[in-house]
Amino acid sequence: MSEKKPRLRSALEGIPTYKPGRPAASGPAAYKLSSNENPYPPLPGVLETLTASAGAANRYPDMACTGLMEAIADRFGVPVEHVATGTGSVGVAQQLLQCTAGPGDEVIYAWRSFEAYPIITQISGAASVQVPLTDGEEHDLDAMAGAVTDRTRLIFVCNPNNPTGVAIPGDALERFLDRVPDDVLVVLDEAYREFVRDEGVVDGLDLYRDRPNVCVLRTFSKAYGLAGLRVGFAVAHEPVAAALRKTAVPFGVSQLAQDAAVASLRSENELLERVESLVAERARVSRELVAQGWTVPESHANFVWLRLGDRTSAFAAACEQSGVMIRPFPGEGVRVSVGETEANEIFLQTAAAFRKSEF
Ligand SMILES: Cc1ncc(COP(=O)(O)O)c(C=O)c1O
Repeated sequence: MSEKKPRLRSALEGIPTYKPGRPAASGPAAYKLSSNENPYPPLPGVLETLTASAGAANRYPDMACTGLMEAIADRFGVPVEHVATGTGSVGVAQQLLQCTAGPGDEVIYAWRSFEAYPIITQISGAASVQVPLTDGEEHDLDAMAGAVTDRTRLIFVCNPNNPTGVAIPGDALERFLDRVPDDVLVVLDEAYREFVRDEGVVDGLDLYRDRPNVCVLRTFSKAYGLAGLRVGFAVAHEPVAAALRKTAVPFGVSQLAQDAAVASLRSENELLERVESLVAERARVSRELVAQGWTVPESHANFVWLRLGDRTSAFAAACEQSGVMIRPFPGEGVRVSVGETEANEIFLQTAAAFRKSEF
C-alpha cells in the first residue's frame, strides 16, 4: 500500500471531538440526564405520522421542506422566505458558518457555552474568539462587543446558555445588538426557548424583525422531543436565509423528520404541557439543591448547572454509581438535565449524600 495519504485540510488538526452525553448504563434504574433530551417519547399522534412516513422511506424527502417551512412560518408569524431548515439546529449553525466565515475570519462566542461552537468554527477555518462568562455565569456582553474587530463575521449568543442555563435580560441583549456592526451576523441560539418563563428574557423572534443581521436558531430536539430525528431551523432575513438554503445538504432533513415536526407543531399544546411539567421539575430540583446548600444559577432551560471545580469528576462518578448519567466538564462543573421525576429524585439524593461526605 502507498505510504501517501490523502491530504486533509490543516484546519481540521486538533479539533476537539464532540462529546455526546454518555448513555445510561444498563439496568432498571439507569437514567440519562447527560444530553438535555426530553424524557417523554413522541405523542401517539406523532408516532402514527412517523409510521405512515416510514412506509415511503424508499422515496427521497421533499428537498425544499415545503410543508414544514410553511408550518413554521405560520406558527411563528414570519415570512416563509425567512425560514431555513436543517439537520438539527447544530446543522444549521454549521451552515451559517459556511455562509459567513473562513480562514482569516473570527467568530465570537461566550465560554463556556455550547460545545459545538469551537468545533464547527474550527472546521470553517475561522478563528474562535472565546469571551469568558462573568463570575455570575452570565454572558459578558460588554466584553463580547469589545471583542469585535473588522475580521469578525459571526457571533453566537446562546440564550439560555448551555451548560449554565442562565438567560440574558432583554434590555442587555438589545444594547449589545445596537453595538454590533450591521455587517456581522449575530446568531441567537434559542434551542431552549420554550423553557423560558421569565418575561424579561426577550424572544429572539421579536428582535430579528428590525435587524437584518440577527438570525434566530430553534430546534425540534428539546421541547418538541424529536432529538433523534435531527431537525432544526433558522429564521433570518434575506440574504442570510437564502444563503442557508444554498448550503443545505441536499435532502438532509428526512421525510420522517419533516412530517413529525409538522405533526408536533399541530400537537403543540399537548407538548407544551409536558414542557410545563419539566419547568416545574426544574424549579423543584433547583429549590432542593439550594436547600442542600449548593449554589445553583437560575436555569431557564431543561437542565441545571453546578460549578464543582475539581470535585466535578467525583460527583459525576457518584451519580453514575447511583444510576444517573450526567454531563461533567472536568475541572469546571456538571450539567444535569431535568428528566423523569424518578431520575431527578435519584440525582437529588446523590447530590445530598455527596455534599455531606465531601464538603
Ligand atoms: C445551545 C444549543 N444549540 C443547539 C443545539 C443542537 O440541537 P439540535 O442540533 O439537536 O437541534 C443544542 C443541543 O444540545 C444546544 O444545547
